[in-house]
Formats: sequence, structure tokens, C-alpha cells
Amino acid sequence: MSLQSPVTDPTTPLFSTSLISPEVVAQLPEGYTCRPLQRGDYHNGFLDVLRVLTTVGDVTEQQWNDRYEWMSHRNDEYFLLCITDNAARVVGCGALIVERKFIHNLGLVGHIEDIAVSKDQQGKKLGLRIIQALDFVAEKVGCYKSILDCSEANEGFYVKCGFRRAGLEMAHYY
Ligand code: ACO
Repeated sequence: MSLQSPVTDPTTPLFSTSLISPEVVAQLPEGYTCRPLQRGDYHNGFLDVLRVLTTVGDVTEQQWNDRYEWMSHRNDEYFLLCITDNAARVVGCGALIVERKFIHNLGLVGHIEDIAVSKDQQGKKLGLRIIQALDFVAEKVGCYKSILDCSEANEGFYVKCGFRRAGLEMAHYY
């Protein structure tokens, strides 16, 4: 599935659109859609949505393109998707990273990362739709579970999305 040549088209999806849940798309507000990340999303507000979550830094277009190309060569492992509004701006995003293990019969584990919804779009179930869309990808590619880390303040959101507390996060920063 990995792409061999550099992706230069701004609208080529990062991964197959067959992995986008039709149910999720159908439940979005009128004019909104859910789709894989595209190279051109540098100009569609993707990084601004991530700024709701944490520090992004001053990522240049060249740096974005280099990282996008790296991910596009690993598009059976990196599944970044976004929700766009009726003006085609990115208003929500999320990522599923698929880890391939030896244990559990060569099991696959999904890691859900970097979920964010624009401040002015929160409370419209877009966060829930992003998680449902990532769950759909995880199931389709064969993950036996998906896991994530979140703050106590977001626990209620993930419980509403069907997750339950399982374990304790530990971190070692470098
Ligand atoms: N605590 C408890 N319940 C919540 C919370 C919360 N923090 N946030 C939303 N909910 C509830 C909603 O009330 C709703 O409940 P309902 O079905 O009873 O009406 C349900 O969860 C779904 O909420 P959405 O409308 O889908 O939530 P929203 O679109 O606002 O997205 C999100 C939630 C992603 C947490 C958003 O507030 C956000 O972007 N926050 C800032 C960034 C952030 O913290 N991201 C998560 C980081 S963790 C990670 O990335 C793995």
C-alpha cells in the first residue's frame, strides 16, 4: 500500500478513502466531510486546529512537505484524518498510528493521537466523529485494540466515545 514516488498533488489522500466510515460522514453537519489528510492541508488550517491541543511551532511549508512525504511512504501505519467545514477548512483532526507486534499472534495495536477540534466548533459532536472514524480505520486494518493517553479533564469525552480507563501512563522526556 505504501506510495513509492513523492506525492506532489495537494489533494491526493494520505491513505485510501475506502477507510473513511460512510456512517461518520453521513452524521456530520451539512457541508462537512471527513477525509484523509492531504499535502495541501498546510493551507487549509490543519496546523491551526492542532494549536488548540498544544504547541506546534513555526512549521514551514517545506518542513510540512518533507514530513508529509515521510508519512505518505508509511500510509499503512500513519492514518491522519480531518473534518472539514462547508468552506473546506479543516476544523477537526486526529491520528491513528498502527503498531505491529510479535505478541498476540503478530497483533496490531492502534495508537490514537492528536485529537483536536477548533474552539468555535467544539460541542457539535465533531470530536466524537473523529474518534469513530479512527475506530473504523483501526478495525478495518485489523487492530485488536486502540489505546490513547489523555488528561483527567478529557476522560469524560473518551468515556462517551466508548473508551475505558485501562492502566497508567508513564513518561520519560528527553
Ligand atoms: N469532559 C467530559 N465530557 C466531554 C468533554 C470533556 N472534556 N468534552 C466533550 N464531552 C462530551 C460532550 O458533552 C458530548 O457529550 P453528549 O454526547 O452527552 O452530548 C460528547 O463528549 C461528545 O463531545 P463532542 O461534541 O464530540 O466534543 P468536541 O467536538 O468538543 O471535541 C475535544 C472534544 C476533542 C476534547 C475538544 O474539546 C478539543 O479539541 N479539546 C482541546 C484539545 C484536546 O484536549 N484534545 C484531546 C487530547 S487527548 C489525545 O489527543 C489522545
